[in-house]
Amino acid sequence: MPLGSIHNLIDSNRRWAFRMTQQDSAFFQRLVNQHTPEYLWIGCSDSRVPANEIVGLLPGELFVHRNVANVVIHTDLNCLSVMQYAVEVLKVKHIIVCGHYGCGGIEAALENKKLGLIDNWLRHVQDVQQKHQQRLAENLSEKIMPDALCELHVIEQVVNVCRTTIVREAWEREQNLTVHGWVYSLQDGLVKDLEISVAGIKELDSTYETALDRLSACSAGTA
Ligand code: CO
Repeated sequence: MPLGSIHNLIDSNRRWAFRMTQQDSAFFQRLVNQHTPEYLWIGCSDSRVPANEIVGLLPGELFVHRNVANVVIHTDLNCLSVMQYAVEVLKVKHIIVCGHYGCGGIEAALENKKLGLIDNWLRHVQDVQQKHQQRLAENLSEKIMPDALCELHVIEQVVNVCRTTIVREAWEREQNLTVHGWVYSLQDGLVKDLEISVAGIKELDSTYETALDRLSACSAGTA
């Protein structure tokens, strides 16, 4: 599709809607009548990481929240509202926090770039970096530092998700809900599971420690 004209997008939309109904004549009608995604995706706004496409899911199958550098903080009403609706109304079974290598937000935080208002948002990434300063310094060479921070950041955001009132209360009422941490590679389009899947508050601390240990071991080339 040639770039430069907004009309191209409308034309492209027409063709897409036509294709979808050709493949399945009831497709849109079905979606009008029900919304039952099983997954909530919390990812980066980066245009190279389109949530549905990279996991091969159709409209209706993935509830999505994206922001710069897939940050989950306890006072972000936007993210919390998405999460609450997903968990309490849609009753998703999985929440996936998906970061990506080569994330501009992570790199800007690491390089302490001055980009304006967004510096305040990325301060949360820098907090993760600072929290794990020793781990990063001891185990990681500079070359893989951005990758390591991408992974550490996802691990910390999984913890943040698990500690929200929304997820804790879901677990208290024994709702089936698992939180996962993934990182997507722009290089080959593949997702790496950081193996920090948590299905209950009691598992959180040990899963977190194991994920951190695994990360250090991988980065040091010992695993
Ligand atoms: Co990004």
